[in-house]
Amino acid sequence: MIKKKITLPPEHIYPLDDWKIIQKKFAPKYLAQDETVFATGNGYLGFRGNHEEGTPVIQRGTYINGFHEQWPIQYGESAYGFAKTGQTMLNVTDSKVIRLYVDDEPFYLPTADLKSYRRVLDMKEGALHREILWETASGKQVSINATRIVSFEHRHVAAICYEVKVLNAPAKLIVSSKMRCPTEDMNDNDDSKDPRKSRKFNHSVFVPRVNRVNQQRVLLGHEVHTSKMTIACGVDHEIQTENSYSYKNECYEDSAKIVYTVHAQPQESFRLIKYMVYHTSRSSPVVELCGRAERSLDSMLQEGFDKLMQGQRHFMDGFWSRCDLKANLYNDKRTQQCLRFNLFHILQASARVEGTGIGPRGLTGEAYEGHYFWDTEIYLMPFLIYTSPKVAKNLLRFRYSLLDKARKRAGELNQKGALFPWRTITGDEASAFFAAGTAQYHINADIMYALRKYVEVTGDEEFLFDYGAEMLIETARLWADLGFYSHNGKDEFHIHGVTGPDEYTAIVNNNAFTNMMARENLRYAVESLKLLQGKNPERFEALAKETGLINAEIDEWENIAQKMYIPYDAEKGIHPQDDEFLKKEIWDFENTPKEHYPLLLHYHPLVIYRFQVIKQADVVMGMFLLGHEFSSAQKKRNFDYYDPLTTGDSSLSSCVYSILAFELGYLDRAMELIKYAAWMDLADVGGNVKDGAHIASMGGTWMAVVYGLAGLRDYGGMISFNPKMPPKVQEVRFPLMIRGQLLEILIQKDAVTYSLKKGDDLTIHHAEEAIHLTKKHPSKTKSLIVNESE
Ligand code: BGC
Repeated sequence: MIKKKITLPPEHIYPLDDWKIIQKKFAPKYLAQDETVFATGNGYLGFRGNHEEGTPVIQRGTYINGFHEQWPIQYGESAYGFAKTGQTMLNVTDSKVIRLYVDDEPFYLPTADLKSYRRVLDMKEGALHREILWETASGKQVSINATRIVSFEHRHVAAICYEVKVLNAPAKLIVSSKMRCPTEDMNDNDDSKDPRKSRKFNHSVFVPRVNRVNQQRVLLGHEVHTSKMTIACGVDHEIQTENSYSYKNECYEDSAKIVYTVHAQPQESFRLIKYMVYHTSRSSPVVELCGRAERSLDSMLQEGFDKLMQGQRHFMDGFWSRCDLKANLYNDKRTQQCLRFNLFHILQASARVEGTGIGPRGLTGEAYEGHYFWDTEIYLMPFLIYTSPKVAKNLLRFRYSLLDKARKRAGELNQKGALFPWRTITGDEASAFFAAGTAQYHINADIMYALRKYVEVTGDEEFLFDYGAEMLIETARLWADLGFYSHNGKDEFHIHGVTGPDEYTAIVNNNAFTNMMARENLRYAVESLKLLQGKNPERFEALAKETGLINAEIDEWENIAQKMYIPYDAEKGIHPQDDEFLKKEIWDFENTPKEHYPLLLHYHPLVIYRFQVIKQADVVMGMFLLGHEFSSAQKKRNFDYYDPLTTGDSSLSSCVYSILAFELGYLDRAMELIKYAAWMDLADVGGNVKDGAHIASMGGTWMAVVYGLAGLRDYGGMISFNPKMPPKVQEVRFPLMIRGQLLEILIQKDAVTYSLKKGDDLTIHHAEEAIHLTKKHPSKTKSLIVNESE
């Protein structure tokens, strides 16, 4: 039973605000988690929320999505087909450091006499601000204001505006703007054995290729030792001041600095604008990237900081108009802030994702090595599809770009078709622990599930035909080849030797989730290919030729889908997680000390595998994704059975359980679970927010409100709602984009209003009742439906 302690951020340090995360007191205790909370990024480039001065620091972090090092995985005992190449997202050149000395006294946050301090992540404008008043030992009052953005509009660009003003006396300022390539490990020396954390290298990863300085502009270019990826990081500066100043530059292979000496007059500010640009590639030489970096810097200097900020605000206005989730869930103010925070971090992880996936911690930390898992397709895609379909499409195209590698991987595993890797950056399987990695074949079906949702919600049939159909053919082939018709006297199709989402149970026969999702994958393949054949026979023929598809294969998939075995225990009336699950002993929850959670850090996998104990939603996940295939009574029995066995050791469960709890009318439990998901990061529910934001759980929070509380269901593209209003909830409002039209849902105490904000004609359902919205009649209000059980 997922039970967590929620300790909200103390209000005297983190005051309430709907649109901002505010820290009004420097709090070393929260330094590590604040580096995650105050992180800025755009899906391509991400900065941890390190302070400008570079120290104090727990983990200095600058990340480029997909920019990685690789190495041959060393196994003590290897075997055929094991993943060969490890991949890790790298911490790249840190360009955001600006050190300050006043009359040679260094400004160092922990010891400085701070007269005032305020750090604000402004989610409305997409910027991080810090305002400080520092009194030096000699009594000089120094105001230091910094604004940092990673641009959404310009994918390769970030900027800091750093402004220093001595209020009560003249002073000599040294402002040292630095950049440094992390040639050695720059992180905290935490040698914890947490397998979820990133890898540290023994070899020198960055090979210096270019370093050049010209006045206030510096370029550092490197090539990664083994992956051969290339990176150019350039910085340039703009100074706005009436004070007299001079500067010196220094540039080495791995570091550089521009040091400004300023003769500051009282009340006269010194404003330094630092533009930072990053260009990376898998194939272009460093020199070429340096050229691109120079051009980006030129245009930034021409545009100026104010224009960059304007662009950022404009982008954010667009984002919030498509996505804002206004909800008063617990009659408190925190939750609204928290919901926006979650959406904002999803944006920061996804906005400019072009040609990559999204790592489980976005670009806020190194946990899980920046690998792409199923998190994107299952936890983030619904939000993206309904609010930013272009981003969703980019992510699916990225999966398509890995199809050849997935074909190869299926071959390595002696299988036909294609098998997408469980975790990867490059498309090659990077999981060295196959039992909880490669064995999660369900990743194939998860991707195809996201494809279906994308096509149904956006109506983008072109994408289905251009990219989806080929992926469907190859994934369907894999299932057909992996499973078999069981010879048990029944005509059933079984899939053996796989791991479902619940990683506390591995390599099982007939994982219910996998079988159901595989069936869905097969059905969608059949449907889509028939659609293509009917609509565009020539294109179908061309695709069939290219992939060697014959009609008999499609018939076969149809047959397999019909015969797919879904485990069911008639006596208990529930779906066993797999063939053996119910035969196992139940974990002794009562005598497991609290500090032994998460179990994965305290028990050998073999111990865990022997018991009925669940890390994360498995059957319950199936009941959410494919809810139309279960009766209400089955859902209730399954939920009642699995909820007590679920530890919540993964952040991926609470949101999904909460959706089911809403559906079943367990409103108190639903509200408790939604809270864990919503607060996962701001209240550090899992105790590991220091390693990065839980991006999937953030997407899950949106789902818990939209699919849970508002009761959205979209099977087969038919959109219906069945909102539930637990007593504490006051009002919930959110927009959804459906086939290019913008629908707004407003749920109040006893009624729900559906309004078509953009578009001409949309049919949705309020429970069973069809609601037709048009330009002329764009709005309808309906009473909430109360189930007897509630
Ligand atoms: C979960 C996986 C998830 C991964 C990354 C693991 O702990 O079990 O389902 O994909 O974390 O978030």
